[in-house]
Amino acid sequence: MLKTSIHGAWSSRAMFVLATVGAAVGLGNIWRFPYLTGEYGGSAFILVYLICLFFIGMPIMMAEIMLGRRGRQSPANTMYTLAIEAGRSSHWKYLGWMGMIAGLLILSYYSVIAGEVMAYIFRAASGAFTHQTSSGIRSIYSDFVSSPENLLAWHTIFIVVTMIVVARGVHEGLEKTLRIVTPLFFILLLILVGYGMQSKGFSEAVTFLFRPDFQKLIYVVNDSGVRELTAKPILVAMGHSFFTLSLGMGAIMAYGAYLGREVSISHATLAVVVMDTLVALLAGLAIFPIVFSNQLDPASGPGLIFQTLPIAFGGMAGGVFFGSLFFILLFLAAWSSAIALVEPTVAWMVESRRVTRVKATVWIGIIVWLLGIASIFSATGTTLRDILLIFMHGLDLDTIGLRQKFFSQTFFEVVDFATTNIMLPLGGMLMAIFVGWVMHRESVRAEINVRHGDLCTLWMSILKYVSPLAVLIIFLSAVGLLGNV
Ligand code: TRP
Repeated sequence: MLKTSIHGAWSSRAMFVLATVGAAVGLGNIWRFPYLTGEYGGSAFILVYLICLFFIGMPIMMAEIMLGRRGRQSPANTMYTLAIEAGRSSHWKYLGWMGMIAGLLILSYYSVIAGEVMAYIFRAASGAFTHQTSSGIRSIYSDFVSSPENLLAWHTIFIVVTMIVVARGVHEGLEKTLRIVTPLFFILLLILVGYGMQSKGFSEAVTFLFRPDFQKLIYVVNDSGVRELTAKPILVAMGHSFFTLSLGMGAIMAYGAYLGREVSISHATLAVVVMDTLVALLAGLAIFPIVFSNQLDPASGPGLIFQTLPIAFGGMAGGVFFGSLFFILLFLAAWSSAIALVEPTVAWMVESRRVTRVKATVWIGIIVWLLGIASIFSATGTTLRDILLIFMHGLDLDTIGLRQKFFSQTFFEVVDFATTNIMLPLGGMLMAIFVGWVMHRESVRAEINVRHGDLCTLWMSILKYVSPLAVLIIFLSAVGLLGNV
């Protein structure tokens, strides 16, 4: 086993926690979580999300950090090494591969949204939101997303700034930024919650977030207004618990590879999960009061934060200042996550392709940039069907099945669903199986160094039985009701 990683090491335990919180806290907490909660009916969704977070996500996060620290390499090579150590098939390396691919796919749209966030820094700073009505704010948003050139420019800038940090490595890039960003981020969020608490929509928001309505969790109203049973909200809640913790795709494994032997994995994990949950709930408490005070639709989808928070900034004292600062911090949160999204693949290229870190970063940057273009067209409402039509002009649509529901989705919707709700839970499940069933018990115990033997046994049994079964059951029920998913 390698003693250290060739890519470097975190300078302290606190730095590892900060970096991992940086990876975990991102657009998922402040952009994705609120809009999903809005779409899937609020508190019952949150309840399932929290259960998944603590009972499935946390044990898997410990497993992922442990795997990384034992393998000390990029996810694909770590899985390879550990499988050989356990005397099993080297095919386990494909688990690392799946994660790296999911990371690049996620980053391709993450970067487009982060680009929108960057553009909003300037909107806010120029006072564009001041005294705007909610419909004014909505049209600022729709004007912006209907311009592909704008989106492309910001997407490009975001990819470039991300790649610069990754190219500079663990110490110079990440550590320096995160020391400042994370604490500042929390302070600002609290100020915004403070603002939300005074607004008249606050109690409605609290009810929405914390009083469960289980009907909304298992039924959807279909296009013709009829209620149907569905497993989708539960699948989405579980998928989001993986997404928000950055699990199931090797990013946490890559960060674990840079972690010192002496650090307690369980304590570090608990700190990350608690902080991540706190940020998501605070974001909900900041956003939904504004939604309800301004009669906005909580189910308005991915555009939610761009159409709600600016209203508050436009109306509050010092809104130009707070608004710009908020979008700056959101950008920083997205930035630290984006870095973690590419790190595994860059590390793999350096190890296995023997290229320099800078070259590896440039290549990955180009791939992600190209993929992102498809997401840009999603923001402007272009569906898969529209894209295919460009290439298959003149064909009879019905014979090639283009009328199916699948094709009426955008690239963003398909990639988001496939990565978050399928690849990440599947990746997490396979990691749990690997630690629970494949690795030698002594290797696991030696690496995890949990002081209480009982806790370690409990954790191992969760990984062995509970996590794989839970993911499997949720998958199966979703497949059984595929018509609704
Ligand atoms: N957790 C990130 C967020 O909440 C998104 C994410 C998913 C991620 N998988 C990741 C970030 C892997 C870094 C690495 O926004």
